[in-house]
Amino acid sequence: MSDAIRRATAETFILECEINGQNAALDVAPAERLLSVLRDGLGLTGTKRSCEIGRCGACMVLIDGQPVNSCLTMAYQCAGKKITTIEGLSSENGLNAVQKSFLEEGGYQCGYCTPGMVVTVTALLRENPRPTAEDIEEALSGNICRCTGYAGILRSVRKAMGASGEGGATA
Ligand code: FES
Ligand code: FES
Repeated sequence: MSDAIRRATAETFILECEINGQNAALDVAPAERLLSVLRDGLGLTGTKRSCEIGRCGACMVLIDGQPVNSCLTMAYQCAGKKITTIEGLSSENGLNAVQKSFLEEGGYQCGYCTPGMVVTVTALLRENPRPTAEDIEEALSGNICRCTGYAGILRSVRKAMGASGEGGATA
């Protein structure tokens, strides 16, 4: 991240925020989006660029704990915010409960949809550790998988629900 901390020019401004637990001061263009700051500026490529119009959820990140499409978020809107990407969900203790469950229950399907799904489900279980099937369906309504069913994903969410009581989903 330090490579990306540069002086602002006449065409940029300094964006101060927190990214994955680290304070950042980044020079960004006024029209730059959060997705580009993360992927192109900081190399956090776990956040995927796909539809870029808010339809697929591949670019989902947490902003102050809420799942948000980074392709629709202007960088300037992130001033003073805490941003967490898929890279920031794991810790020195390893993967969080949702990440583990996705691996164990076949929720991990392709690299495009999975990071966004994991980000969304992590946020859901932090707010609601015992979601109903309808809650899960609604939470994942903005995360599209184009090529398979959601059975493995739903099994993963249920398994993570069991683990979240131990604090795993809050990692
Ligand atoms: S790339 Fe952002 S919602 Fe599809
Ligand atoms: S889009 Fe990822 S498995 Fe279908």
